[in-house]
Amino acid sequence: MHKKRIKGVKHIVVVASGKGGVGKSTVAANLAIMLAKKGYKTALVDADIYGPSMPIIFGLSDAKISVYMRGEQEFMLPVEKYGVKMISLGMLADPKQAVIWRGPLAANALNMMFTNTEWGDIDYMIVDFPPGTGDIQISTLQQYRISAAIVVTTPQIIAVSDARKGADMFTPSKMNVPLLGVVENMSWFTPQNHPDEKYYIFGQGGGEALAREFNTEFLVQIPLVKDVCDSSESGGNLMEMGNPIINAAFEKLAERVYIQLDEEEICECDCDDEDCSNDCNGNCDECSHKHKH
Ligand SMILES: Nc1ncnc2c1ncn2[C@@H]1O[C@H](COP(=O)(O)OP(=O)(O)OP(=O)(O)O)[C@@H](O)[C@H]1O
Ligand SMILES: [Mg+2]
Repeated sequence: MHKKRIKGVKHIVVVASGKGGVGKSTVAANLAIMLAKKGYKTALVDADIYGPSMPIIFGLSDAKISVYMRGEQEFMLPVEKYGVKMISLGMLADPKQAVIWRGPLAANALNMMFTNTEWGDIDYMIVDFPPGTGDIQISTLQQYRISAAIVVTTPQIIAVSDARKGADMFTPSKMNVPLLGVVENMSWFTPQNHPDEKYYIFGQGGGEALAREFNTEFLVQIPLVKDVCDSSESGGNLMEMGNPIINAAFEKLAERVYIQLDEEEICECDCDDEDCSNDCNGNCDECSHKHKH
């Protein structure tokens, strides 16, 4: 089965972990905001259909996505905030619509978000995966061409053993998706009024060990700080809260993404053939489609 590209979208980056509550949504949201801040056209897909977090993190609990008909098909318009075009089933006008999409229709909902959404031109589309390695993750990784995966873990061994299952699904023998690296979240606690102190309340070394095991990069450590929690509760922009450690961490993470992927050659096809794999591996002369680099 060939993997599809989404029209107009250069790179899809997924954020995953076998474990819940480690900060996937926090990392996905702020990576997207930072990439937008750096001038990239950025999109965010909240693929956590059963427990969408993005409306809260972005302060968009009352926002509604417009759905309209284009020919026979329903299309959605993303909501834009903090420079990021975002879509989440938590923002559908009729909550019953989202309920209909649960269970076996989850894959349909996912495809709606990826392909029946008015994205326009996007450099980076960040995907916030639900915890674990279920149908949503597998169906996304099987169908779409993913440029990079980021695995989030906390430093303790129990989290790492779960996060490992998340990392394992990207390996060549499974879904074969390039693993960009590991983000360790909640690495230490720093009290607000003692910014120089570090308390390793969840232990140490888990992120680094996981990265070593999968022969991938240990991308960044993000401390446990109140600003992160406060901003997601209030829907504020964490990147504007002026926490230098947090900002530096996300700046480093965004940099690792664009330094790695900006250089990658993208082959986009101009043809109207829906089955076009959009991928000639650089051998455009050999391809019958009208590709442009
Ligand atoms: N570095 C941090 N410092 C303080 N709080 C944090 C940090 N990272 C995440 N949190 C908080 O921890 C909670 C869980 O984070 P988040 O929702 O991002 O995790 P998740 O892995 O996406 O969870 P789920 O598996 O439920 O989707 C949130 O309330 C978030 O604000
Ligand atoms: Mg989440």
